[in-house]
Amino acid sequence: MKPKVYLTHPLLPGAMDYLEKHVNKTVGPSDGPGREELIRGVRDSEGLLSLLTVPVDAAVMDASPRLRIIANCAVGYNNIDIEAARERGILVTNTPGVLTDTTADLTWALIMAVARLIPQADRFTREGRFRGWALDLFLGREITGQCLGIVGMGRIGKAVAERAKAFRMKTVYFDPHRLDPEDEKTLNASWRPLDDVVWEADVLTLHTTLSAETKHLLNAERLAKMNRTAIVINVSRGPIVDEKALADALADGRIWGAGLDVYEREPAIEKILLSLDNVVLLPHIGSATEATRLRMSMMAAENLVAGLSGQTPPNLIP
Ligand code: DGY
Repeated sequence: MKPKVYLTHPLLPGAMDYLEKHVNKTVGPSDGPGREELIRGVRDSEGLLSLLTVPVDAAVMDASPRLRIIANCAVGYNNIDIEAARERGILVTNTPGVLTDTTADLTWALIMAVARLIPQADRFTREGRFRGWALDLFLGREITGQCLGIVGMGRIGKAVAERAKAFRMKTVYFDPHRLDPEDEKTLNASWRPLDDVVWEADVLTLHTTLSAETKHLLNAERLAKMNRTAIVINVSRGPIVDEKALADALADGRIWGAGLDVYEREPAIEKILLSLDNVVLLPHIGSATEATRLRMSMMAAENLVAGLSGQTPPNLIP
């Protein structure tokens, strides 16, 4: 008999076909289940496949004494209470690696959009306000040759640094685990204490995981240390930035601009940000290409099936 699993959302078609062959699945609505619906859905399930928008805590796990694995379809897993899963002997998996380049690409799209005022210039052109070339039209900031500060030098941080070489940037980074000298040389990146990275960066980009230590890592105090011409980019997790402090810094012109793909209380966005022109706002689409989202869906489905068939899933969170 196929194991019973609950999918909080439908996955992309290829992954649904794969799951069809291996599990007996119940699928939540495309906009995801509410809390009660989630608990009802998990009841009697041996596996749970979740998206990052679904909080999976002890009460959800306890809805099914048979639950053996939670496969998150995301590289980040801050939506899951890992400790509670560990205590219950439930495996948890994520989808690392397959979205690295896609997310690094979007980071660069945001950097360039903010620095070169792309959304504003697009709006201006569509509104029929382009009256011909002008010397002072949409003067942005240089990126080539500037200092890139990276916080979090994991897979995505490294992929961002790799791309910075093409812009001949000076790259400084902070990560509690310093890279070995060979990797630093390859990436042309130098380690600095966190506050020095914040202070030195013309572009500060955040690629760390969310934890109690990294919550509000970029706060009012650190924002006050940044250059007035600096740009902040966040494609990791919203709560790493104190969103209100960032909005205030942007509103007061204390930094040049920001590009955000994630928010502190997603999908809610700090009101001030919505009224500002010096911030580019995206709806958490860092990994959103067809190919990458299919790879993520397949990886999550394969982790789930492996865990249910007694194997060690390939992307088990230790
Ligand atoms: C993740 O996977 O954690 C991203 O935020 C979405 O792809």
